[in-house]
Amino acid sequence: MRVLVTGGAGFIGSNFIRLVFEKFTDWEIINLDKLTYAGNPENIKEFEGQSGYTFIQGDICDSELIDEIFKKGIDAVFNFAAETHVDRSIMYGGDFIQTDVFGTFVLLEAAKKYGIGRFIQISTDEVYGSIKEGSFKETDALNPSSPYSASKLGADRLAYAYHVTYKLPIIVTRCSNNYGPYQYPEKFIPLFITHAIEGKDLPLYGDGTNVRDWIFVQDHNEALIFVFDKGIDGEVYNIGAKNEFPNLEIAHKICELLKKPKDLVKLVKDRPGHDARYSVDISKIKALGWEPKKSFEEGMKETVEWYKANPDWWEKIKSGAFKEYYEKWYKDR
Ligand code: NAD
Ligand code: DAU
Repeated sequence: MRVLVTGGAGFIGSNFIRLVFEKFTDWEIINLDKLTYAGNPENIKEFEGQSGYTFIQGDICDSELIDEIFKKGIDAVFNFAAETHVDRSIMYGGDFIQTDVFGTFVLLEAAKKYGIGRFIQISTDEVYGSIKEGSFKETDALNPSSPYSASKLGADRLAYAYHVTYKLPIIVTRCSNNYGPYQYPEKFIPLFITHAIEGKDLPLYGDGTNVRDWIFVQDHNEALIFVFDKGIDGEVYNIGAKNEFPNLEIAHKICELLKKPKDLVKLVKDRPGHDARYSVDISKIKALGWEPKKSFEEGMKETVEWYKANPDWWEKIKSGAFKEYYEKWYKDR
């Protein structure tokens, strides 16, 4: 089976390819990635030369390139490629509309033209917006509140529209916050782990009470393979792990695991439009037979150990392009 993985040099996509090669010997992977600031050749170095693996550096918005790729025959698509950081979307929304919405449109058009066995659109739980109590079901109203989540919703509903209008075999997944190895250190957990290792202050937004549901990245990827196999065309599946904690608790947990003082945590000015709580009801995917395996305790220990063991990976990032973004984010606020 020839599988197009877009965004496979990023955090979740590179872990997805790792999992596929562990599980299957008959999947041929074509990894298409633009290698933006978030796409890292180091994440995919280990696949070089592996039979059944091809890397193409390119943009999902490039319709000529996408046509060339689909012309050779693609059985399945896992569309991970996206601009993904909420704070960056607050500064540079245009890139998000371009890649997340238009790029998905280009892929869907190619799937329509050449046909496709199954198209997995990796959406996010952020499309529902914030919820005070309880958890969102797949049928609940969608109220995204950042330029990132609004652009992801554009892609999410566009994929659904191609199912309804052109009968394309599309499945949409909406997962909660991922953590684990290879996550770019602009995101909360890897930023706090690496800052804490460096003995830097940990900048907690607002009052630190915002709640996220944390899932270990390979549990998310297992769920994607599961819905690819068992899911129903045109359906949406929430994915989550029911590890809901306020950010302050996570920050303290990181200090504890690294044996650092908790007073490294410093409250800073809040993210504009900061969603208070995300929570998804995962009973639909559970009824099909999937559930997360990794406990938060175990996943966090593994993640902290990975960042401790791989300073070369993150030090290079933090002293490069990341630095410019990070300084601008704080300066502009
Ligand atoms: P990431 O930022 O680590 O990786 C994104 C990858 O996409 C990078 O390798 C980047 O180079 C590539 N890319 C960006 N624009 C591209 C373009 N125009 N053409 C080709 N490649 C391009 O992101 P991630 O955290 O791995 O997220 C992957 C997907 O999962 C995204 O669609 C995201 O919305 C979704 N998601 C993420 C989470 C999470 O917690 N990280 C949760 C739910 C859903
Ligand atoms: O819910 C799924 C989404 O999770 C994905 O779709 C996104 O791609 C991913 O980036 C993530 O979005 P969040 O905004 O929830 O993740 P982030 O890691 O940026 O922030 C997590 C929480 O931590 C959030 O409440 C903001 C807070 N935070 C974040 C940073 C970077 C801080 O307090 N300080 C920080 O420096």
